[in-house]
Amino acid sequence: MRKPFIAGNWKMNLTDEEALKFVDQVVERVPSIESVDYAVCGQAVSLKDMKERAVGTNLQIGAQNVHEEEKGAFTGEISASALTSVGVKLAIIGHSERREYYNDTDERINLKVKTALNHGITPILCVGEQLEEREAGRAESVVRKQLEDALDGIEAGRAADIVIAYEPVWAIGTGKSSSPEDAGAMCGTIRRFLFDTYGPETAESIRIQYGGSVKPENIRSYMAEEDIDGALVGGASLDVDSYLSLIEETAK
Ligand code: PGA
Repeated sequence: MRKPFIAGNWKMNLTDEEALKFVDQVVERVPSIESVDYAVCGQAVSLKDMKERAVGTNLQIGAQNVHEEEKGAFTGEISASALTSVGVKLAIIGHSERREYYNDTDERINLKVKTALNHGITPILCVGEQLEEREAGRAESVVRKQLEDALDGIEAGRAADIVIAYEPVWAIGTGKSSSPEDAGAMCGTIRRFLFDTYGPETAESIRIQYGGSVKPENIRSYMAEEDIDGALVGGASLDVDSYLSLIEETAK
């Protein structure tokens, strides 16, 4: 069965000192939970030290982005080899905030996913519709198209290493979470897409997270949905007690 995966997306929050203290506290307090995978995705400046402090523990450290090119004149960007050089093997790709503000198009996201996989970095590939698209009854077709584009040219053997995060844009950071039923239905649609594209084995093995105003109080209702295998959590991952509760609730 798929192992649940809780990933914290810290976005542009926490100083280096705060990030490292957080990692120390997590490492100290959850050494024994084996039934859930968990990660925090921090700001680039802290990743090396976060990783060092988490070595030998179950806490995974991830980045929030990776550039599609190997290296070069891309001021302000972060390369896959820079990430792996500090031991980081996880990266969020195509988050809606990057799609909106930083020109992460579907085509670019596809290249980023490929580059990440080439370097042994697990992408958390984000997809999700806007509110107007949901209201117009287009949510499913929008998400399918995002998947088609992002996974174009990626064969089943490599796709198995990807994690998909379904994040309806209107639910991110708004406190307006999707109902577990709607989120579960969309994750079912995503699984069917994976089945049609890659066949049963790969479709069954890929983990699909829900994201959008997930908190310790509602995580179990999402986890009860068959096709939801964890969560990508923003706001509620910034406080260590809340983050640990997310993991504990998922492990129940
Ligand atoms: P949120 O963010 O949990 O604060 O809604 C989720 C995300 O952006 O990944």
